[in-house]
Amino acid sequence: MKIYEAKDYQDLSRKAANIISAQVILKPNAVLGLATGSTPIGTYKQLVELYEKGDLDFSSVTTVNLDEYQGLSSGHDQSYRYFMEDNLFKHVNIPGERSFLPDGLAADGAAECRRYNTVIETTGGVDLQLLGIGGNGHIGFNEPDEDFKKETHLVTLTKETRLANARFFSSLEEVPTHAFTMGIGTIMAARKILLLANGEGKAQALYDSFFGPITPRVPASILQLHSDVIIIADKPALQLIHQHKGAL
Ligand code: F6R
Repeated sequence: MKIYEAKDYQDLSRKAANIISAQVILKPNAVLGLATGSTPIGTYKQLVELYEKGDLDFSSVTTVNLDEYQGLSSGHDQSYRYFMEDNLFKHVNIPGERSFLPDGLAADGAAECRRYNTVIETTGGVDLQLLGIGGNGHIGFNEPDEDFKKETHLVTLTKETRLANARFFSSLEEVPTHAFTMGIGTIMAARKILLLANGEGKAQALYDSFFGPITPRVPASILQLHSDVIIIADKPALQLIHQHKGAL
């Protein structure tokens, strides 16, 4: 595991975009695992800039997203499909037919999970998986649990996660109660993991995940067993790691 401290959010975003861009340059037909949420917005902005400058070509890239709310259509402005279109897809040349997310409106949830597993398998597996981290240590929507779920599954979102995401909806009641998420096994199968964290709200989760016991109670802690993890975080997010481990 490598930890890079970013000076600020802009620096974090630039560092992350440079790593993703290196991946695409080295392997133009890379499979990128993508995340939504506040953390990667700046990274996507930087990727769009690199594309606009002519430094990056996504024409052979495939993307698979981590998760999607159940019950929201792709046109709903809080769906993760909409987020991805808005922040990345509509600005770059990723082929529409090769950008995948679970279908939030799928009538049969279990069948949708199976379909999404097959989609990911068919891509040949994720080369680089971008991750944010929840304040409770979740990755994707793999919430603290009794066990690690391997493949795509439907989750009941914790109150904490719904409260954290309520900022994007007009009320807490509007935040969906369920979501589709890639499983921990699929995330761990990615060849490289790039996890981003900013702000002191992530400090405890980051410390517990990378320096605490490996437990499904802190889903990201499983990443300690992955052989190629890069963490880019700002000082506030790294404060507990600094306190316990000294300077990095
Ligand atoms: C998003 C996702 C989540 C977020 C996490 C952090 O696709 O899978 O695990 O990465 O909730 O969210 P932000 O970045 O909004 O703090």
